[in-house]
Amino acid sequence: MSFMRDEIFAQPDIVARLAADLAPYRAAAAAARAAGVRFVLYAARGTSDNAAVFGKYLATIHAGLPAGLAVPSSATVYDTPVDLRQCLVVGISQSGETPDVAEYVAHARQAGAFTVAITNDDDSLLARQADTVLATHAGREQAVAATKTYTSQLAVLALFWAQWCDDQSLLSALRSDVPEAMRAALSLDDEIAEIAQWLRYSERLLVTARGYNFATALEAALKFKETSYIAAMPYSAADLMHGPIAMVEPGYPALLYSLSGRALPAMRQLERDLLERKAELVVVEDTPEGG
Ligand code: F6R
Repeated sequence: MSFMRDEIFAQPDIVARLAADLAPYRAAAAAARAAGVRFVLYAARGTSDNAAVFGKYLATIHAGLPAGLAVPSSATVYDTPVDLRQCLVVGISQSGETPDVAEYVAHARQAGAFTVAITNDDDSLLARQADTVLATHAGREQAVAATKTYTSQLAVLALFWAQWCDDQSLLSALRSDVPEAMRAALSLDDEIAEIAQWLRYSERLLVTARGYNFATALEAALKFKETSYIAAMPYSAADLMHGPIAMVEPGYPALLYSLSGRALPAMRQLERDLLERKAELVVVEDTPEGG
């Protein structure tokens, strides 16, 4: 557990360090543009796949490119030829050794894609398959449950897409505001410990968010399952309304990410709907007005 805790507390400095040198993202974005990229596919597993979901939102909403998650089994199980010309294929793997991610990227490169590897090991199997490597420089991961390597993947994705769009305000936020906000969140350690007590004996948990933070809900739910054996179910707030909300009975524990931005009104509406059902809510927010 202390490895995991140390790695959680290392996150702000890692993000600040990554954002201090923009050269790799500038070069990767320029190379992808030169390759005529018009579509984006991400290949990853586990936590890295949750980072890929964040990358999907960035490419689509921030850069205006159609983006989605790849079907690695098209290469590794079904051996199906797919035309990937004008496609940017981004393989994400902390270790760089997840075989089907590396295999998919190799296959994609042969099928005409421009390929980028995001990995914590720039000499890994995945790194060797890709046209360009973006290293996450998070230091060796010792906790089995990924934390610092996940947020470093998010930072690399944000830096790459900010560079692609020449978004100077996002680049500057990543240099200082984001690490500062991460430090502020970590300073809530004692309050978070109290809330953790409330959840400790729960067998189930609904975790929900919308938009960019859907990735956060996916990753939080994975961590609850992996580290605490809680059957945490992640839902996009939009999908939750299409049936699954029926399971919410009085006392059902729910964790909501109601963060500022365009998805906030939908999250506030969901809070009201869940309260009507007498669910017990923990709401993570970054706005002072409270919820
Ligand atoms: C969860 C976790 C795993 C890994 C997955 C992929 O905390 O660590 O889900 O994310 O096994 O590993 P990499 O990123 O090395 O391909």
